[in-house]
Amino acid sequence: MAPIIEVKNLTRLYGQQGAVCRALHEVDFEIEAGAFVAVMGPSGSGKTTLLNIISTIDKPTQGRVIIGGRETETLKEKELALFRRELIGFVFQEFNLLDNMTIRDNIALPLTLNNIKAEEILRKVQELTELLGIDNQLDKYPYQLSGGQKQRAAVCRALVNAPRILFADEPTGALDSKAASELLACFRDVRNQYGTTVVMVTHDAAAASYCDRVMFLKDGMLSGKLETNGNAEAFFKRILNMVALLGGEGHERL
Ligand SMILES: Nc1ncnc2c1ncn2[C@@H]1O[C@H](COP(=O)(O)OP(=O)(O)OP(=O)(O)O)[C@@H](O)[C@H]1O
Ligand SMILES: [Mg+2]
Repeated sequence: MAPIIEVKNLTRLYGQQGAVCRALHEVDFEIEAGAFVAVMGPSGSGKTTLLNIISTIDKPTQGRVIIGGRETETLKEKELALFRRELIGFVFQEFNLLDNMTIRDNIALPLTLNNIKAEEILRKVQELTELLGIDNQLDKYPYQLSGGQKQRAAVCRALVNAPRILFADEPTGALDSKAASELLACFRDVRNQYGTTVVMVTHDAAAASYCDRVMFLKDGMLSGKLETNGNAEAFFKRILNMVALLGGEGHERL
C-alpha cells in the first residue's frame, strides 16, 4: 500500500532576495497509514513549517507533498477545502476553543457546518468524548475545564470529521506532565481505534517516546530517525541521546 504521506525534496524559503531564510531544505520521507510519528528539533529547525506544508496550510517553495495518493499542489481551492475536511485534523498548542460555546458545541462545530443530522452529531460527539475521557464535561464552557481537558476537547473537535491524519503542533506544550501523558495516551487510543495517522511536533523526549518513530530536524534538514522497539523507557533514552547528539533541548521527564 502507498504511504499516506509522501514528502519529496521539500524546500521552503522565506523572505526576499538578500534576506532569504531557508526553513526547510530538500526534506524526503514517507509515513505509512496508522503510524504515530513525532517530529523533534531545536527551535527554528523547521518543524512548524514542515507540519504546515504537509497539512496544506502552507505551500512549498520546491518539492512535492502527496497525501493519500494526491499531489496537493494540483488541488484547486474547492477541492482543497474538501480534501482538508476529509483527510486532515489539526491540533495546536493553544487549544483554540471558542469561549462562548459549550464543549459539546465546540466539538460538534465542524459537523454542524457540514449540515449533518443532529442525532448523528450527538452520537459522534459521545463516541469521541468517551474515548478521550471527557464525556462528563460536555455541558461546561472551556474556562471550566483544566488545560488537559481542553486539549482533549480540541482533539475531539479535530477528529469529529473522521480525518485520516491528525497533525498536532506542540500539543502538550501548555500542559503539565500528567495532563501531557494523558493526552499522549489518547493519541495512541485514537490511532488504535480508528487507524488515524498521528504526526506530532514536540520538544519533549518523553512525549516523543509514546510514538512509533521520531524524525529529527536540524537547520531545516532531516538529520536523524529513530524507531521504537516497543519499550517506551528504552526509546525515551535513545531519543534523549539523539537530542544531545544533534544539540537542542529535550526536557528531562518521565
Ligand atoms: N513567516 C515567516 N517568515 C519568515 N521566516 C519564517 C516564517 N516562519 C518561519 N520562519 C523561519 O523559518 C525557520 C523555521 O521556523 P519554524 O517555525 O518552522 O521553526 P520550529 O522548528 O517550529 O521552531 P519552534 O520550536 O520555535 O516552534 C525559522 O528560522 C523561522 O525564523
Ligand atoms: Mg514551531
